[in-house]
Amino acid sequence: MELPFAESWKIKMVEPIRKSTREDREQWLKEAHYNVFQLKAEQVYIDLVTDSGTGAMSNYQWSEMMLGDESYAGASSFYKMKEMINSITGFKYVLPTHQGRAAENVLFTYLVKEGDFIPGNSHFDTTKGHIEFRKAFAIDCTIDEAKDTQLEIPFKGNVDPVKLENCLAEHHNKIPFVIVTITNNTAGGQPVSMENLREVRKIAKKYNKPVLFDSARFAENAYFIKIREAGYADKSIKEICREMFSYADGMTMSAKKDALVNMGGFIATNIEDWYEHAKIFTIINEGYITYGGLSGRDMNALAVGLDENTEFESLETRIKQVEYLAKRLDEFGIPYQRPVGGHAIFVDAPKVLTHVPKEEFPAQTLTVELYLEAGIRGVEIGYLLADRDPVTKENRFGGLDLLRLAIPRRVYTNNHMDVIAVALKNVFDRRKSITRGVEIEWEAPIMRHFTVKLKRL
Ligand code: F0G
Repeated sequence: MELPFAESWKIKMVEPIRKSTREDREQWLKEAHYNVFQLKAEQVYIDLVTDSGTGAMSNYQWSEMMLGDESYAGASSFYKMKEMINSITGFKYVLPTHQGRAAENVLFTYLVKEGDFIPGNSHFDTTKGHIEFRKAFAIDCTIDEAKDTQLEIPFKGNVDPVKLENCLAEHHNKIPFVIVTITNNTAGGQPVSMENLREVRKIAKKYNKPVLFDSARFAENAYFIKIREAGYADKSIKEICREMFSYADGMTMSAKKDALVNMGGFIATNIEDWYEHAKIFTIINEGYITYGGLSGRDMNALAVGLDENTEFESLETRIKQVEYLAKRLDEFGIPYQRPVGGHAIFVDAPKVLTHVPKEEFPAQTLTVELYLEAGIRGVEIGYLLADRDPVTKENRFGGLDLLRLAIPRRVYTNNHMDVIAVALKNVFDRRKSITRGVEIEWEAPIMRHFTVKLKRL
């Protein structure tokens, strides 16, 4: 008999988590204005708000924490990290930052000007925020198929080459770069194929534009290329990563995801001009260029994390757990973005809460219901997160409205996945009785979902 699949690690340290009563949760959520970001973490039983900075480090990473070089300038930890980034990505210039959005801030301060257009595939909210804050426009060129959650295609995160080319043709003198997010978080943790990366490169080159990868989950993207794309089955994850990055001129990285650390980020590029200018903004915003907001020990752990998580077994363990949860949801007929992506399940909320009108935010309503059901904290990736149109000030109801259940790396067991699946099933079973959603009482002008105050209708 073939042995079943199991994790490629064992557990050395544990952290207790607590259950609560429904009455407690009703009270806590009311105090949090029905915004799960406003909850205290101790009020949460299973926390799926993000896979960012919430993973468990390995024994090797912890041992490297003790070896950190905390010198202000020229620390050996920086060079350890830089060499690892060089070898995985092929980019020679590296600037550390304290996290991914800081890398965006530093680089976009140089690259993005008022009135610019930045085409890409479903820009992540901080990326969009950094673009729109500079009065530029994020142009979403994701393939239309990504909007049909029930359609099963292998690379649903892809850029539509026609949309990209149209944008480049129309605005070419106002486009500083093309951005590709791997994996495509907003579209459901969906991968981008090597073929698509190659094609984006070709189109961008035609218009003489550089390509930037938002690389938060690049290793998961490489895993999907190996599993799903013809010609890559026998290549190692590291070989696939090198090829992926060969189609870009630079990357911003949130190391809190695929570098398996709790805090960290960086910019890496082969364009000397980007590096020279970004250096200045790194010093102003983050710190000297060999630490950029990170401790020496953080950079050591980051280097090891990058190495570990560009190995097949690590990624296989992680993505198989996400697939396990997806299979449980299939048993109950719960609709989510298919096929399941790399880091999370994205439940198609309007397909579940068919009686809640879009103006009452179905995905946020489902987020609220799941927390009340079992103390499980997911997050809305939908109409609230989409913010208002900067010009018309109307809510943007054009995209997907999803409840994201992001799975932290190396943190929960499949027993936890079972609890999540059954809790969601219980909400699903009473979905027809949920007819009202939530209403906004107060919102910030940008990135409102973090602080929005809601009323339950
Ligand atoms: N790009 C992508 C694709 C992301 O998913 C994130 C963060 C960032 C950039 C920004 O990185 O958080 O280190 O500043 N995503 C987290 C999430 C917050 O929950 O998906 P950061």
